[in-house]
Amino acid sequence: MGSLRLVTIVLLTIVGLLGSPAFAQSPTYGVGRTPTAAEIRALDISIGPTGEELPAGRGTAKEGAKVFELQGCIVCHGAEGKGGGPAPALKSKTSHDLPIWKRERILPLRAPFATTVWDYINRGMPLGREGILTADEVYALTAYLLFVNQVIPEDEVLDKQSLPKVKMPIGDEYGRLPDWKPGTPRLEGYPY
Ligand code: HEC
Repeated sequence: MGSLRLVTIVLLTIVGLLGSPAFAQSPTYGVGRTPTAAEIRALDISIGPTGEELPAGRGTAKEGAKVFELQGCIVCHGAEGKGGGPAPALKSKTSHDLPIWKRERILPLRAPFATTVWDYINRGMPLGREGILTADEVYALTAYLLFVNQVIPEDEVLDKQSLPKVKMPIGDEYGRLPDWKPGTPRLEGYPY
């Protein structure tokens, strides 16, 4: 019984020490390592609204239409992104005149910033083969999906400078969202 009590005291002491700030901060476990700068760069790829992190490159809707077929987007999202496959449609079917909240929840239509569309495609698509697209292809696909949703004209060239300047349909409405206070009603048609 004596040795059991000793073991208990030792264990409690260790648990107590592990919980103390000195132990919490020291690398005593021998697992993991500090990532290299290159490893952090490979993961640190998200693009903010200003687009300052965007890489060099360019693309148009016409080029994007080809990439959409070549890279197999069409298999899941249907021809011209009209849907019908296993993935959501990427092309709006509702009238341009309707308020944005009454239209479909389609990223290249509803996103508050065009850079978000670029970022999503770059990081998440094609599903299951993420990371295979070149920067030019992502610019072209973004241009194509913004064009089929009538956000930009077919001949607009998207690059690091022009993409952040694209005015998304949500534009002013998004800017006018009221500050939330207790009792503020849900926005009409707001889906989230
Ligand atoms: C293997 C099937 C598959 C392929 C191939 C694929 N996607 Fe997707 N995609 C999906 C699915 C599933 C979703 C929905 C994901 C979710 O909502 O979480 C999606 C979502 C999206 C969205 C956001 C839709 C929205 O409104 O929220 C975009 C944009 C998109 N894909 C573009 C592309 C592009 C461009 C390609 C080709 C480079 C591509 N996808 C290839 C399955 C696919």
